[in-house]
Amino acid sequence: MSLKILIHLIAAARPNFMKIAPLYHALKKEVWAAPIIVHTGQHYDLNMSDAFFMDLNLPEPHIHLGVGSGTHAEQTGQVMIAYEKALLEQRPDLVIVVGDVNSTVACALAASKISYESINSSNPTNRERPLIAHLEAGLRSFDRTMPEEINRIVTDSLADILLTPSQDANENLLREGISKDKIRRVGNMMIDSLEMLREKIQGQASYEKFGLDPRDYGLVTLHRPSNVDDQNMLESLCQTLTRIAQNISLIFPVHPRTRKSLEQNGLMSLLNEADDLHTVEPMGYTRFMNLLFNCRFAITDSGGIQEETTYLGIPCLTLRPNTERPITIEQGTNQLCIPEDLESRVESILSGKMGRCAVPELWDGQTASRVVKSIEGLLHAYIVTASYTRNQPNDTMN
Ligand code: UD1
Repeated sequence: MSLKILIHLIAAARPNFMKIAPLYHALKKEVWAAPIIVHTGQHYDLNMSDAFFMDLNLPEPHIHLGVGSGTHAEQTGQVMIAYEKALLEQRPDLVIVVGDVNSTVACALAASKISYESINSSNPTNRERPLIAHLEAGLRSFDRTMPEEINRIVTDSLADILLTPSQDANENLLREGISKDKIRRVGNMMIDSLEMLREKIQGQASYEKFGLDPRDYGLVTLHRPSNVDDQNMLESLCQTLTRIAQNISLIFPVHPRTRKSLEQNGLMSLLNEADDLHTVEPMGYTRFMNLLFNCRFAITDSGGIQEETTYLGIPCLTLRPNTERPITIEQGTNQLCIPEDLESRVESILSGKMGRCAVPELWDGQTASRVVKSIEGLLHAYIVTASYTRNQPNDTMN
């Protein structure tokens, strides 16, 4: 290939940055690829976004849509409007969306409906739109009350290539009638980021700041609307955490959504007054991962932490009725947990009751190279069969 393929990597919210970083670095090494980072601005605080770019050695985003917060429709709609303009200006050949946040579905929708024809009639392939790849395709919680589940289903139905982390995801897609020709099992990209930065992660001792030793504490993260938006649920969780902290220290980096709800409901002081319950601001990637590497267990409702604890062999209690990542339960260290059972589950972990676990296949730090190969194969097929146009990227973007 003599001309470079212009590839947009869509980054929006905290968990996305770890999924695009290994891919950006891998694509940069390919002579045929010109990767461009598009930040929608869904997460915008320094410690929710910039700190991750620095830790993951990512350049400043090449395009920043600056959308920010809003209701689901506002956020999704505003990303679509802003990204449509970027698509028309840049005419990427491929758009890679990751995960399941509102920006993922918004960019996939904008890319699937765009027509380059109307703005550049001199382009011989002006009927074309960019191809769409979805990384982390096929995950399903089967719970449509979760906004992320809607985002997953819609994004997968629009994607031209579906890059999955595990066999269960392939099966979900096949069941929904998606052609097997579009599906590639590539493994888990989060593990690539973890391995890429393992030395830096292990070179720190974030727990010392709290006067703690490795395995001396549990790590807590909570941000799902079902746990933090409802006052009664949040209050009962806070009370449970303060009781657990009487047995073992807890470190709780508080997500902005959770902080807002804690403050609105007057619950921040309940946590702050508890001995050995350390609430802190959200942390950058390597500092947080150092805490995760060294904790005795995690209590979470995050998707990524279910996977990272499985990879590290650390017990994880997931405060949700379901998970789109069942492999972390079947093979890994994850357990779903209702708030009423949290204390007794922690006691079991502290008394050493823990089954054996395995690292799922293809969670090996080599996912980015498998994605690059899959993309190369896909583009080759399109270039041969559909005379797909390869744009010459703007030099400043390189
Ligand atoms: C979003 C994703 C969720 C993902 C999570 C990771 C959707 C539907 N949800 O949830 O899947 O697991 O990110 O963190 O896309 N806020 C700040 N600063 C920021 C970002 C957000 O203060 O940098 C505030 C916003 O003002 C808003 C709240 O946090 O009030 C929620 O932000 P939003 O991005 O809408 O959803 P998350 O709960 O973070």
